[in-house]
Amino acid sequence: MQTNQKLSLPIMGCGTWAWGNRLLWGYDPSMDQQLQEVFNLCVGSGVTLFDTGDSYGTGKLNGRSETLLGKFSQAYSGINQENICIATKLAAYPWRLTRQSMVNAGKASAKRLGRNVDLVQMHWSTANYLPWQEWALLDGLADLYEQGLVKGIGLSNYGSKRLKKVHQRFAERGIPITSLQVQYSLLSTYPVTELGLKDVCDELGIKLIAYSPLALGLLTGKYSEKTSLPKGVRGLAFRQILPGIKSLLGCLREIAETKNKTMSQVAINWCICKGTIPIPGAKSVEQAKDNLGSLGWQLDVNEVAELDKAAASTDKKMVQNIFQTK
Ligand SMILES: NC(=O)c1ccc[n+]([C@@H]2O[C@H](COP(=O)([O-])OP(=O)(O)OC[C@H]3O[C@@H](n4cnc5c(N)ncnc54)[C@H](OP(=O)(O)O)[C@@H]3O)[C@@H](O)[C@H]2O)c1
Repeated sequence: MQTNQKLSLPIMGCGTWAWGNRLLWGYDPSMDQQLQEVFNLCVGSGVTLFDTGDSYGTGKLNGRSETLLGKFSQAYSGINQENICIATKLAAYPWRLTRQSMVNAGKASAKRLGRNVDLVQMHWSTANYLPWQEWALLDGLADLYEQGLVKGIGLSNYGSKRLKKVHQRFAERGIPITSLQVQYSLLSTYPVTELGLKDVCDELGIKLIAYSPLALGLLTGKYSEKTSLPKGVRGLAFRQILPGIKSLLGCLREIAETKNKTMSQVAINWCICKGTIPIPGAKSVEQAKDNLGSLGWQLDVNEVAELDKAAASTDKKMVQNIFQTK
């Protein structure tokens, strides 16, 4: 049975990769009470889209982000409750080979959430290494929609050419693609400027979701060569990137000061001005409040152009996801 439930996405969402990830993000279960408050604050403010993944959570905490979202959404009661939209991403693990394996994965996510998934997304394409693997998985994703187990289907890390192929295959089954998410920020303009994804998405009626809109925290301005950097891989990457992005950070800071906003708010608002739905991650109520301050106003055309120019002339950019296809 095919459902035609409409899924409408808000202007901004909240990313939850850090919720359960010790390795990269320093998660600790003592943060859970705070994360529930982040969840409540976002929903109450109309930011009802939460992005997660079945691969989120490190080691024994695998699936933790989904489990926490399930717990938080059940505990929440109040304004916008009916609009909560949980978007999970199912991983194209090498051992997932059949369409039924994707249906089972979708059901396992729903079990962790204690409710149905709203938007199910293919986490990445296997086109760069095992192109034949993904068709069965995509068919399974479409089965979840046809069986009424999800309200919408999305993709992640797909480029224009591959997206058009998948769109064609789904169209033959009468199945729409709701969204595509890619790494998009002032430090990762490639998906739009090089791959032309915004135009293709507009043409196909697909919403473009911008992940890592703060470039993993770099665009908040709180990290510099002089301040302490996060531990592990993120700190190592930041050390490489920071010297090459001084002019961009300077431009962000200047615009933020003129507008009486924070750098994070300007960086997120720039994504909104580009017609994308940013999903900044937040680990505390303070960060969530700050990010919510990106809404309700807009950069003007000159400010966007200035930021575009600064972004185009940086010596360093974020590394693209290895799974990002053309
Ligand atoms: N599809 C994919 O392959 C893919 C890949 C990556 C991410 N995503 C999704 O996109 C979401 C967002 O991306 P992201 O989490 O990678 O990076 P991000 O949104 O660019 O940065 C988030 C991090 O920046 C810091 N931060 C956030 N708001 C802040 C504020 N207002 N002030 C100061 N610091 C702030 C926090 O880390 P610290 O406090 O530790 O600095 C936070 O965890 C993820 O959670 C995930 O849902 C998807």
